[in-house]
Amino acid sequence: MEKTEQNLMDKVLSLAKRRGFVFPSSEIYGGLANTWDYGPVGAQLKKNIKDLWWRMFVESREDVVGIDAALLMNPKVWEASGHLKEFSDPLVECKKCHGRMRADTLEGDECPYCGEKNSFTEAKQFNLMLKTFLGPAEEQANVVYFRPETAQAMFVDFKNVIQSTRVRIPFGIAQMGKAFRNEITPGNFIFRTREFEQMEIEYFVNENTWAENFEHWREEMWKWMKAVGIDENKVHELEIPDGDRAHYSKRTIDFEFDYPFGRKELYGLAYRTNFDLTNHENVSGENLKYRDPETGEEYLPHVIEPTWGVDRTILAVLLSSYKEDGERVYLALPPRIAPYKAAVFPLLANKPELVKKAREIFDNLKMEFPVIWDDRGNIGKRYYAQDEIGTPFCITVDFDSLEKNDVTIRNRDTGMQDRIEIDRLIQYVKEAI
Ligand code: GAP
Repeated sequence: MEKTEQNLMDKVLSLAKRRGFVFPSSEIYGGLANTWDYGPVGAQLKKNIKDLWWRMFVESREDVVGIDAALLMNPKVWEASGHLKEFSDPLVECKKCHGRMRADTLEGDECPYCGEKNSFTEAKQFNLMLKTFLGPAEEQANVVYFRPETAQAMFVDFKNVIQSTRVRIPFGIAQMGKAFRNEITPGNFIFRTREFEQMEIEYFVNENTWAENFEHWREEMWKWMKAVGIDENKVHELEIPDGDRAHYSKRTIDFEFDYPFGRKELYGLAYRTNFDLTNHENVSGENLKYRDPETGEEYLPHVIEPTWGVDRTILAVLLSSYKEDGERVYLALPPRIAPYKAAVFPLLANKPELVKKAREIFDNLKMEFPVIWDDRGNIGKRYYAQDEIGTPFCITVDFDSLEKNDVTIRNRDTGMQDRIEIDRLIQYVKEAI
């Protein structure tokens, strides 16, 4: 990693912990390797990102419906989807230090842990499905798997969705939620973890139209990255060649991001054909065909799948929005995903008349959007803290406010201050978010 890039990663990691975006999980017990908790500010940012996604791709579209399925599914799902057989990475072990790693990501013949040369065991396929048991007996009959992708529920629930709604092809089923993979080499903060969140759409189409729908979703993914504040100059499309694609895909584009630790996957777009519906039909014995209401034609729809990792979105957003302006550090988050839209301060915490007025404003604003209160330290320190969590506006109540019914409003990105009537505050902030 280059020095400036290493610095950026260190700065973002330190800010994330200091300001309550992301903490090491179970830290008081020494942590649990590669598991992370979102703190108060991070949880709010994550919620805003997921809300924006749901708004953009489910609520604003007539052709996409959402579901929220169970994490644990019948193990036959994973037999049909091919995950039990195919969802694996090649694992090698260093004969000297017994470090384990993925054979396909090794660079050269040196063990990355101990430096020993040519000391690897033969590569073995290691299945990434995370297992547990349901019920009190830990026996094979009770084995279930935590879902490794949210996607399968959209196929398994396909019939219920077409029977219970008015959707017509082309249409999508969307879902967001946790997924689990027993990754061999997790790491790089929240980039690769064993528990993570996905936002996925399975978009069902007639086979003849797969290519145009693939293009449509490619454009939608670029629109999303713009909306969420990911630096588009750092995003690159990678066409995945034959032989390297997931077992279900006939075409895949990865959207890669220039992270400080290298150019790696951020999102994916795949043409899954009718692979999943065909297999679920075969294994379940249920008819999963779609009947065209106009022509009466029955067929298994083909699928375009845009997929987004929530945690990688957060990492890419933090890396894209981290800015330094002289001494000042701020996160230039798009206001619509900023954890708080505004902060409200009384100029002096020990003047009850200022506190009372500021509280009135805070109570009014908090009914409209997330706001935060701060009356500690001096104004400079309060600005500093809000800049670091990306709050677009800071509102200060001073003695003039009592006379003139107006406040100072300061803009995060420019640092400029304006005077504005209290009655116009809600509208002013809403116009920006
Ligand atoms: N349904 C298709 C699917 O799961 P994937 O490329 O394996 O495709 C989709 O995963 C997205 O999920 C990735 O583009 C990435 O953003 C995120 N993701 C995958 N594995 C991850 C991990 N171990 N930690 C964090 N995010 C991960």
